[in-house]
Amino acid sequence: MGERFDLVVKGGTVVTPNGIAEADIGVVGGKVTAIGAFSDSAAAEVFDAGGLHVLPGVIDTQVHFREPGAPQKEDLAHGTRAAVLGGVTAIFEMPNTNPLTLSAIELNDKLARAAEVAWCDHAFFMGGAAENADQLGELELLAGCSGVKIFMGSSTGSLLAKDDAVIARILAHGRRRVAIHAEDEDRLNERKQIAVDAGHPRAHPDWRDVTTAVRATERILRLAREARRPVHVLHITTGEEMEILAANKDVATVECTLNHLTMAAPDCYDRLGSLAQMNPPVRDAAQRAALWRAIDQGVVDVIGSDHAPHTLEEKSATYPDSPSGMPGVQTLLPLLLNHMAEGRLSLERLVDLTSAGAQRIYNIAGKGRIARGYDADFSIVDLKAERVITNDWIASKCGWTPFDGMAVKGWPKATIIRGKTVMREDEVLGTPSGEKVRFVGM
Ligand code: DOR
Repeated sequence: MGERFDLVVKGGTVVTPNGIAEADIGVVGGKVTAIGAFSDSAAAEVFDAGGLHVLPGVIDTQVHFREPGAPQKEDLAHGTRAAVLGGVTAIFEMPNTNPLTLSAIELNDKLARAAEVAWCDHAFFMGGAAENADQLGELELLAGCSGVKIFMGSSTGSLLAKDDAVIARILAHGRRRVAIHAEDEDRLNERKQIAVDAGHPRAHPDWRDVTTAVRATERILRLAREARRPVHVLHITTGEEMEILAANKDVATVECTLNHLTMAAPDCYDRLGSLAQMNPPVRDAAQRAALWRAIDQGVVDVIGSDHAPHTLEEKSATYPDSPSGMPGVQTLLPLLLNHMAEGRLSLERLVDLTSAGAQRIYNIAGKGRIARGYDADFSIVDLKAERVITNDWIASKCGWTPFDGMAVKGWPKATIIRGKTVMREDEVLGTPSGEKVRFVGM
């Protein structure tokens, strides 16, 4: 008798650490147990992946699902449904919720809710602030916690750690890599009038200018080195920061978002107004080209969506009262596949940026590659499919995407999480069964 499997993903072109090749994947108990060639009779269930590519499950390490606190914008049920429709198998959620996620109570509330409604695997960040700084060493070790997140500049919500002394205290407590929103709050306050006077989001990258970002990134690198604490600098928007970060890879990992890699000012603000408003801002085409160079050079470790929905009604407020952020978890993989089709990155690099990179940064246990013993998380894609992204495909509560009407090549055809097919052909299947992401040594 040969090996028996719960599931065989058959005939796909599979991306493994060995390279890209046609193979069958055998799954038992939610884990990959063999990669090779297997007969249908060896499997309780066969997924025919002929003509498709099987990628390690895409992990989106920056989403805002707003639960609790802003159910009109998003919640865990809708956000994770959007994730699996977009081929995402796991998400890390940000702590600028209402109430802020600053203690075990808020974290456990989110985990309890997610255990009921989440379609994909998940972990939650603990906010880093003056009021919980001394407890973060214990808080960051709680099950289901992806680590600590610091906002150096104000964005949506009141989470803020703007001064070196507070940031140093946060960094002094704990060992895990700390995620950073790097915009300098003092400079934002000094320059706010630029935004008020302009009254149009075209001014967003002037108000929150390159120096605002560079200054905060330089500060956090110095503080990280002093504290001997690794950091992960989120949503980098400037070539200037990429130069600095390239010289600090021993302490800092780097994220880019699809918004900054796809849109450019002033066009995005002329076309979309405040719908294209986010923090840090979408900048000009020269800066966007610098981000792609940093991807090409290996400076960037991961791509996140920074999925941050606001309703169209909220967005219709006069700038700068309009809120910053756009949905993105569902469009992350389709846009990245389209960038690949247009020659901006290879399939190997796409996989590195969406699964292996996340694993490396955060020490995720059992995810991030297709290999024996790892979770059977697969994003199964058709590289040749031509589709148009539309608002009516969007499962987020806000119901819109800044990419409405965009034609793309490459599309997620199925999402498999721990051996269970949760999305196929744009349909969500079964019941929500997302679990906590686990981390090495915890
Ligand atoms: O544009 C943004 N929106 N940037 C952030 O850092 C937060 C986010 C949100 O929560 O709306």
